[in-house]
Amino acid sequence: QHCFSKKEDGFLYCEGVKVQDIMQSVQEKRPFYLYSKPQLTRNVEAYTAALEGLDSIIGYAVKANNNLKILKHFQELGCGAVLVSGNELRLVMHAGFDPSRCIFNGNGKLVDELVLAAEKGVLVNIDSEFDLRHIIEAGRLVGKQVKVLLRVNPDVDPQVHPYVATGNKNSKFGIRNEKLQWFLDEIKRHPRELLLVGAHCHLGSTITKVDIFKDAAVLMVQYIDLIRDQGFDVKFLNIGGGLGIDYYHAGAVIPTPMDLINTVRELVSSRGLTLVIEPGRSLVANSATLVNWVTGVKTNGNKNFLVVNGSMSELIRPSLYGAYQHIELVAPPTPGAEVCTYDVVGPVCESADFLGKDRELPTPSEGAGLVVHDAGAYCMSMASTYNLKMRPPEYWIEVDGSLKQIRKGETFDDHLRFFEGL
Ligand code: LLP
Repeated sequence: QHCFSKKEDGFLYCEGVKVQDIMQSVQEKRPFYLYSKPQLTRNVEAYTAALEGLDSIIGYAVKANNNLKILKHFQELGCGAVLVSGNELRLVMHAGFDPSRCIFNGNGKLVDELVLAAEKGVLVNIDSEFDLRHIIEAGRLVGKQVKVLLRVNPDVDPQVHPYVATGNKNSKFGIRNEKLQWFLDEIKRHPRELLLVGAHCHLGSTITKVDIFKDAAVLMVQYIDLIRDQGFDVKFLNIGGGLGIDYYHAGAVIPTPMDLINTVRELVSSRGLTLVIEPGRSLVANSATLVNWVTGVKTNGNKNFLVVNGSMSELIRPSLYGAYQHIELVAPPTPGAEVCTYDVVGPVCESADFLGKDRELPTPSEGAGLVVHDAGAYCMSMASTYNLKMRPPEYWIEVDGSLKQIRKGETFDDHLRFFEGL
């Protein structure tokens, strides 16, 4: 069941509400993100159901979408959180997350940020030799033992775009397994500052084969066994995030959270481990679209362009990764509209500014609605104000079908405020 779907009348609906009606009801005709709150709930519930009977933490990867309303919703549904900056840590504390279910990750964590993490008592991943030194320093400054996990780089190929692969041996993340002993010795030497509680790995993102998680988990439990053999009482196996979603809407079978958890369940439960997972995309991506108004169509050379008011500023994944996100008009074509192959582009002054290439679409009239699907993950959180296109507002559809604004759009006045008094 997908929350955005076309009905027989040819209109696009979100949870039974016509997207075109929503476009008419919002005051400003600027691009906006539209979410389904019930879909967000369903996505968390898919993981909760898959994890039934296992000790586990769902650590939502906040980088995928840091909308405070969404965070609060996930917190209420029992999620923990995975953080990559001091500000993400501050935000989840603000949203009421339980710090003992939060993990601070990253290859360049600053001592200030680690001090905050130590004060709050969140779990911290060790990423490198210098990172370990910094964590020890933070523990010393705060006068508390920091609960740490070793981020091991298992060198499993996730078979994804190189920009989103992280667990291969030449990656900037984590430690290579041959250095494991050095880290264990170092941790033993600092019992006042450190408590080793587990091991972590993260292979990459947009993964669509669960065998890859299994391969990594097999290696990881070997490390866990080795760590336990040295007298450490570790309880967490964190297998990271990375489950892909169906961006193509072409009937492909994408593994579900249940498929993912079932491949590692036995390995984890037989050792009495608590499984930590760090999903981002698979919790939020399919819950939203970016809604745009058509500005016009033009033809240059042998290319047809469909120009909308959204752009790479609001949604950069196609430009940055050549990522495919499905595009649809929100209303049925007007009679006689010609179907053409369009590059769907924005108004930003870059040839890299496109939302989709070579899309077969009926020629729309100016002012028609066009959505970019699966825009809940790494879209708003990667938005910029390039060309002074201010960051868009966000709305969600509630369970009862009502529309609610969940983030205000940035304005030109917000921008001027940076210069006040200078
Ligand atoms: N854990 C760690 C350590 C990560 O680095 C990431 C994502 C996640 C969890 C969440 O992964 P997910 O379940 O969302 O795949 N901007 C890119 C994706 C970057 C992913 C970065 N790390 C994109 O738009 O595709």
